[in-house]
Amino acid sequence: MEQRANFGSKLGIILASAGSAVGLGNVWRFPTEVGANGGAVFILIYIICVLVLGIPLMVAEFVVGRHTHRNTADAYRQLAPRSGWILQGYLGVFTAWFILCYYGVVAGWTLKYLVDALLGRVAAITDSAAYFTTFSSHPWMPIAYMVAVMLMCHFVIVRGVQNGIERYSKLMMPLLLLIIALLVVFSFSMPGSREGMRFLLRPDFSKVSPDVFLSAMGQAFFSLSIAMGCLCTYASYFTDDARLVKTAGSVALIDTTVAIMSGFIIFPAVFSVQGGTPDAGPGLVFITLPTVFQMAFDTVPWLGWFFSVLFYLLLLLAALTSMMSIHEPSTAFLLEHFSLRRHTATCIVTLSAIAVGVLCSLSFGPLADVRPLFGMTFFDFFDFISAKLFLPVGGIIISLFVGWKLPRELVHDEITNHGHLRFRFFALYRFVLRWVAPLAIGLVFLNELGLFK
Ligand code: TRP
Repeated sequence: MEQRANFGSKLGIILASAGSAVGLGNVWRFPTEVGANGGAVFILIYIICVLVLGIPLMVAEFVVGRHTHRNTADAYRQLAPRSGWILQGYLGVFTAWFILCYYGVVAGWTLKYLVDALLGRVAAITDSAAYFTTFSSHPWMPIAYMVAVMLMCHFVIVRGVQNGIERYSKLMMPLLLLIIALLVVFSFSMPGSREGMRFLLRPDFSKVSPDVFLSAMGQAFFSLSIAMGCLCTYASYFTDDARLVKTAGSVALIDTTVAIMSGFIIFPAVFSVQGGTPDAGPGLVFITLPTVFQMAFDTVPWLGWFFSVLFYLLLLLAALTSMMSIHEPSTAFLLEHFSLRRHTATCIVTLSAIAVGVLCSLSFGPLADVRPLFGMTFFDFFDFISAKLFLPVGGIIISLFVGWKLPRELVHDEITNHGHLRFRFFALYRFVLRWVAPLAIGLVFLNELGLFK
């Protein structure tokens, strides 16, 4: 049998995993959630969720992936043959593919805005809401951009682990971090940005409610790419000397920093133009921000142009590295399970995701009134069952699996690299996986289903 692929370096491992984590969830979803949930308090609770639940679950996925060095479906099959746990492997692979279908649509929007920014059009938009609606409901334009982004992702995945995922993560992630830093400076230099800063930094404890907790937890899972095949698949390419806990810590640190920085980019800018309507919803980056760039453009034209280009490039890079990690689980599964060539497996995944992506994209235009699935459009349905349903279910199963089903020694060996590393919190770690995580995620899940509304 051919030697299985692996990542070539520890830096590659961290950057690829961070690439998976840092995505639209950080730049787009996080600021929106912060806006809707009272600012700084939300950030505080979010950080607690990352530390207490996010990192342990990420390590749990790493354990499964690295121990087996298999694609996610076969990893569970190997660890728990002939048992119901196997379903979790398939669930991970499927959910990742589901997310790919609609994530590609939004990623396509970012490409469109990047192209427009380059052409100087973003700074010239007069009615940004109308502009966005006209584009997203256009019968074929958003589809063309979605296909373009899917093909970019395809191009990386088809080259494999070291030459594709690792090489491009090493290229794109440092660039992304650089852009973030530049944009933070830009945003702070906007007039009136103080208020946005205050919004982010001063915790308002009167806003704390169970709902804020639950939103923070849901956001933490989505942002860290937890509970899908993604991290588990990447971990199956980890080398045996990779340190799982340290890697998870680094990834969580990078991911959280980028999320908070995005808040620092968006809110000062938003407050400076709008005088403070922070909870602008998902339209934040496609509707509110163009106005900000325009304002900068009116003062110093090249500056508005420059920063709009940077911002949408940032979004596109973030989306692409995440898409790579959402693409790979099903590709690896087809490739290994059915002994296909990488090229064939990648083509199947890309083409099928494009086919469904077309439906998701049309949900904003011609198919807006077609709601065949539980009264939801295709886009909403895919988002709902993957992010809201399968994600928490997967999280519960993974924590139960690693906490209860896997032998204690196996988990310990994997985390300590067979005794080479020390891990003092192992008992606490298992307690979190056995009790805290399943209960906490169960609450998020019921909340998502609207039980506490
Ligand atoms: N974490 C990515 C983001 O922040 C999205 C993502 C990638 C994801 N892989 C995932 C979300 C797996 C949930 C599950 O945008």
